[in-house]
Amino acid sequence: MADLLQRAERLLTANTQTALSNGRLYRFTVPSVRHYPFQWFWDSCFHAIVWAKIDVERAKDELRALFARQQPDGLIPHVIFWDQSKLSRRSWHYLESKGSWRYFDPRYRPLTSAEIQPPVLAQAVEAVCAVDASFEAEALPVLERYYRYLARCRTRPGRHLISLISQFESGLDYSPAYDELAGIDRRRPISIFARSRLVQLKNLRADYNLNEIFRRNDSVEDILVNSIYIDALRTLGRLAQHEGRHAALAAWARQEAACAREQLLELWDPGRHFFYNRNSNGRPVGAMTVHGLMPLLLEDLPADMVAGLLEHLHDPKRFAASYPVPSVALDEPSFLIDSHLYGFRFIWRGPASLNTNWLVTKGLRRHGQRETATLIADSSVGMVEAGGFNEFFNALTSDPTGEPDFGWATLAADIHDCR
Ligand code: GLC
Repeated sequence: MADLLQRAERLLTANTQTALSNGRLYRFTVPSVRHYPFQWFWDSCFHAIVWAKIDVERAKDELRALFARQQPDGLIPHVIFWDQSKLSRRSWHYLESKGSWRYFDPRYRPLTSAEIQPPVLAQAVEAVCAVDASFEAEALPVLERYYRYLARCRTRPGRHLISLISQFESGLDYSPAYDELAGIDRRRPISIFARSRLVQLKNLRADYNLNEIFRRNDSVEDILVNSIYIDALRTLGRLAQHEGRHAALAAWARQEAACAREQLLELWDPGRHFFYNRNSNGRPVGAMTVHGLMPLLLEDLPADMVAGLLEHLHDPKRFAASYPVPSVALDEPSFLIDSHLYGFRFIWRGPASLNTNWLVTKGLRRHGQRETATLIADSSVGMVEAGGFNEFFNALTSDPTGEPDFGWATLAADIHDCR
């Protein structure tokens, strides 16, 4: 494991970039130098968790670069384009950013996207604070503004769960969890591209005005995002409790988590014994994907739901692949072994990834499922040992099938320790 951590350090160092902004130097890690040359929100949270085991100063800097681009309303965007010269006009980034009606103005380049990603920031801060508690005072005000923003601006009236305005906010870009909702024909690449991006085009037309977007009534309560959100609110509650002056924040976070948990449990499908995303009409939608396993992160998930999820996780026709955990159940018609359909790359439609394996493993440990957790952890480390720090792995053969030298695959160095 020491060797794995050393290799993780080498990769994270190689993927480190710096940027000067307002006279201050920022350091952060890009997911992949070649393919993802900017700072991504949840990737950086995972990078910080691994950096905390190697060099806590570097971990703090990783998060400080995210903090630096927090917007006045509290949003921390899903991508920060530190080096705008790398922004290609042909990239999707323009579609995901405010102000892109100025697309044809050659001087226009967005600074950040206008979307969110799974809010795993509080968990990253907690991992850093476990090594250096002094970071708490610096991070808490940022966390407070960020999570209050999500609760205030990213939920529909009367709801405590986050509603996503685009499937790309889920972090699991082309997951078939969204096919039905977006009207995607899973057999046609053009349909997957066009339908998923059409939603972003509508958001851009509203210039990312959330009131206008929510009025459209097609936002989605995503299981993965909300499981992480509830876990994050609880983490925030713990962090805030350490300091007497943050007692009100601790109470708010705990209360918000309790309300969100109640609503998350409503997304359980008692017939299929699984969790599914839900659209604005309250209808459970989508395929059986790794999203639905994420409520395992909640220590107090009712026992019958834990048992139901474990059954699917242990089922060789579903998630018990030779190299778990596939991002889509093997028996789903949309399952793609290597993320390719007629030569086009659509990620999150089958292969396993280290971040979702890490989250599932954590959840399993919280329910005393040590054996299954160890099995997934061993298999994850084995895939990385054999195939390198790759973005995705074929769940049937363990072949790497995504971008090489990929940042969050270094979670392999933490997967035996995470709780
Ligand atoms: C892809 C992934 C997303 C990730 C990003 C950068 O878009 O789906 O989760 O954050 O790449 O690695």
